[in-house]
Amino acid sequence: MSPDSPSFDELCRWDREHVWHAFTQMAEYEPFIIERAQGRTLIDIHGRRYLDGVSSLWCNVHGHRHPRIDAAIREQLDRVAHVTSLGMSNPTTIRLARKLTELTPEGLRHVFFSDNGATAVEVALKMAFQYWQQRTDPRPAKTSYLAFDAAYHGDTLGSVSVGGVARFHAMFRPLLFDVVRAPVPDSYRLPAGVAMEQACGYYLEHVERILAAEHQRLAAVVVEPLVQAAAGMVRHPVGFLAGLRELTRRYDVLLIADEVAVGVGRTGRMFACEHESVTPDLLCLAKGLTGGYLPLAATLTTDEIWRAFLGTYAESKTFFHGHTYGGNPLGAAAALATLEVFDEERTLETLQPKIARLSEHLATLRDLPNVGDVRQCGFLAGIELVRDRATREPFPWEAQMGLQVCRRALTSGVWLRPLGNVVVIMPPLSTTLEELDTICGAVVEAVQEL
Ligand SMILES: Cc1ncc(COP(=O)(O)O)c(C=O)c1O
Repeated sequence: MSPDSPSFDELCRWDREHVWHAFTQMAEYEPFIIERAQGRTLIDIHGRRYLDGVSSLWCNVHGHRHPRIDAAIREQLDRVAHVTSLGMSNPTTIRLARKLTELTPEGLRHVFFSDNGATAVEVALKMAFQYWQQRTDPRPAKTSYLAFDAAYHGDTLGSVSVGGVARFHAMFRPLLFDVVRAPVPDSYRLPAGVAMEQACGYYLEHVERILAAEHQRLAAVVVEPLVQAAAGMVRHPVGFLAGLRELTRRYDVLLIADEVAVGVGRTGRMFACEHESVTPDLLCLAKGLTGGYLPLAATLTTDEIWRAFLGTYAESKTFFHGHTYGGNPLGAAAALATLEVFDEERTLETLQPKIARLSEHLATLRDLPNVGDVRQCGFLAGIELVRDRATREPFPWEAQMGLQVCRRALTSGVWLRPLGNVVVIMPPLSTTLEELDTICGAVVEAVQEL
């Protein structure tokens, strides 16, 4: 640090006084200040090193300071840092749009860029709404949405409206629009009398009943494919997504797939929808899209939806929505490099043995007292701590059991952030087997000590 730099004490004091941290009780906040990072290692202002066990909140993909992504951003910086997307373009953003249409499920051909996961979802919600108002055969009554209990789609008011995490969202209830709710298709806490083999059919029947009754007023169903991440890495039964796609087609309701958390390689495939051969009508991407470097998001859609917005300016079919930094070229350069590294380093291929190793560690965890369920989807895992394994009774949320495990893991040099009583393991895809062993070992030790 230069002589003019603030001291460590000043940094801590200023951090407490001036920085209002996200999802953090500031009265209890203890400064934890990362000054640099390398690969999967975060290094704090005191030089202490921590493995990044949650990909800097689920977004880092190829590691921190990846030479290829660093160089792509620097190269873009030598051309131009920002070009607006309002009536203008730039080569890097164009190339990224083209690449995304090639990589995502067949049929998604148009990309609307914004700058974070919540905005990607807002864009999808508004596009779905406007589509029904102005397509050739308009359906003006289709103004509502079907969303799942415990869903999380971001923190802007539209995405909170379709969200369903009571702890985060209940406060804002008076500000939100109404949505139609379906039960969370949870594979761990099944409804009474429903066996695992019946779960998919059970949840789909429930959705079908809602669609049969409400489809005339539903613009879209919003879903986090395969895993409801913020709900506590809740896994949907296999086949649920494909079934939902089939039902939404049958009842003429659009399907919005929010792959903000699970997209870009996390599930072992490039996109979660690929696991069940699904093309949604709208696909939301953010987080890992830039490898965890810069805020950039994308909402992709089909020719059918795109065409409904075409006309003369006077017809007022324009999508009047935009964010100043949507499609920012520096972010686009990071995203293009991130996607190219998947090919250059055969990321998805080399990920498979790591997914298998993660399963082995989870098998150890499964047998520990206080562990109710372990859930895995590709290279993400949630370990749910419960008060009673037999009844699946949760710990009270105030007990902060997940946080206790994470605090203990920190003393072993592993940084994790829980979701209530669920310990999340979600390291960068480039994590080595040895690093994964360290992360999982720290979790096992911490859970054993509870
Ligand atoms: C599924 C999902 N959608 C949307 C979001 C919101 O993304 P952002 O925090 O970039 O707004 C998140 C964030 O965790 C998410 O998990």
